[in-house]
Amino acid sequence: MAVETDFIVIGSGVAGLRSSIALAESGARVTVLTKDKASESNTEYAQGGVAVVLSDDDDAELHEEDTLVAGAGLCDVAAVETLVTEGTKYIKQLIDWGTEFDREGGKLVFTQEAAHSRRRILHAHGDSTGKEIVRSLISRAGVEKKISLLPFANTESLIVAEGRCVGVRYLDPILRAPREVFAKAVILCTGGAGQLFLHTTNPPVATGDGMAMAYFAGAEMADMEFIQFHPTALSVEGAPRFLLSEAMRGEGGVLRNSSGERFMDRYDERLELAPRDIVSRSIVAEMRRTGSRNVFLDMTALDAEFLRHRFPKIDETCKAFGLDIAKDLLPVSPASHYCMGGVRTDLWGRTTVPGLYAAGEVSCTGVHGANRLASNSLLEGLVFGARAGEAALTDSPESKVQSPKSRPPDAGTRDMGLGTQVSTAVRKRVKRVMWERVGILRDAISLKRAIDEFEQIARSNLSVSSRNFVTLASLVANAALWREESRGGHFRTDFPEQKEMFRVHSIQSRASGEISGAETINFIAEKRSAETNS
Ligand code: FAD
Ligand code: SIN
Repeated sequence: MAVETDFIVIGSGVAGLRSSIALAESGARVTVLTKDKASESNTEYAQGGVAVVLSDDDDAELHEEDTLVAGAGLCDVAAVETLVTEGTKYIKQLIDWGTEFDREGGKLVFTQEAAHSRRRILHAHGDSTGKEIVRSLISRAGVEKKISLLPFANTESLIVAEGRCVGVRYLDPILRAPREVFAKAVILCTGGAGQLFLHTTNPPVATGDGMAMAYFAGAEMADMEFIQFHPTALSVEGAPRFLLSEAMRGEGGVLRNSSGERFMDRYDERLELAPRDIVSRSIVAEMRRTGSRNVFLDMTALDAEFLRHRFPKIDETCKAFGLDIAKDLLPVSPASHYCMGGVRTDLWGRTTVPGLYAAGEVSCTGVHGANRLASNSLLEGLVFGARAGEAALTDSPESKVQSPKSRPPDAGTRDMGLGTQVSTAVRKRVKRVMWERVGILRDAISLKRAIDEFEQIARSNLSVSSRNFVTLASLVANAALWREESRGGHFRTDFPEQKEMFRVHSIQSRASGEISGAETINFIAEKRSAETNS
């Protein structure tokens, strides 16, 4: 017998948890499927903090302006307005729910990050902001008795019947066999795809599954070419690419090359606090110029006690690799960090497939444009997670759960036995190609080679999850080839200028099979405007 619930939420990061709470508050039954333990997500590892308009010298217009500038002409203004104006309410609510942001003398403290015109970043336990937010949201979700959380439930595909998303297929965590669950609506909150690249700050769960599942279900994808590479991931042989937060530069850290020279003045007058894409490309240029594998983050001018108190997690992790953050130069180089693009949604998380909603990093509302302003994504997960939950409720008040009788099985095998080794090899290959040919610097030749290779891989007998992975890589590479300009997180060495004709969003879908440009991400607004003009 098919399992039924009212709503399915996939993912338990900030967007998934906030969305589940919004749904459950109405009395609906919510099933949350998540790939690992509940706390494992990008959210859990967020360090620097969450941007919010709460300090006396700040206002929503300034936050909006900073976000629009970072987005390099491609933000949807309505989405940015929604984020900055509603953000404050959701952060206050989070504080009411017990989130302990850092305070001094009882007052909230705000830090600085690149491209923010004000100190507006709240943080928790110094550099463990995400962990604290997850803790308080899981505790708040625990109060809602109608939320059932299913950990280690790897969702592989969405079930669509008569054009509507009606359920999901996931791997049973114990039997490793496929299971189906049906609901009135599905809210995708599966996060980003940093793992598409060889070097990433993201944890292993961030493989972009939700984006690929939505694509196969017929949803439109937007701005897939825009990937943010964080400039300062720890670069030590054999160590994971642990993030050294931008807040370290915000507090006065500087970058030095292998000769110990401070070099950012060669590249941008905003020095270490230039936007991330500029700092990342400057580091790559400096590594190439000096023939070295990394540059260094230098915190030695700061007080040791202050550093250990302000960045306790970073201090502890660096120590494990024999580095003292107060005394040593810390080896760093860029790594993939965040996806600006994703599943195209309106301002309420509706995708182009009825019954399917998306929020957080998996989605693209246009709020980040071509480049995300630091610390805007935790806020995005809260605001748009809540909105997606509310929209799913209002769109399907009395509708019945449909569970179609006959459904085609997923094409592809399951990752078991020898198949797991093949999948691991496929992923390794895709990650290397993405890093080398679809990375920080791209050109038509490298992109076409990557696309050819992905096509070849896709022709082999892949497991469902490998097929999802390589399909997603192709979506990014194809969008990057289509955009013959450089803007925000997308840099083409063969088209280094920004072009007015590309001040549009890239849209791709399985049905159309090609990429087109759209003025706005919000497909409902786009449709209205087309009707008015005709
Ligand atoms: P996530 O938090 O990534 O959650 C996704 C969830 O989906 C996870 O629970 C995952 O297990 C689940 N999932 C994935 N695939 C499947 C599947 N197939 N089936 C079932 N479940 C699945 N942003 C900021 O604003 N401030 C910061 O300071 C900051 N620091 C960061 C530091 C690091 C190291 C990283 C990696 C990111 C940082 N970011 C920061 C970005 C931010 O953390 C993320 O963009 C944000 O947390 C995404 O939230 P989310 O809910 O959309 O996704
Ligand atoms: C960081 O702490 O540098 C990450 C902040 C972010 O990605 O927004």
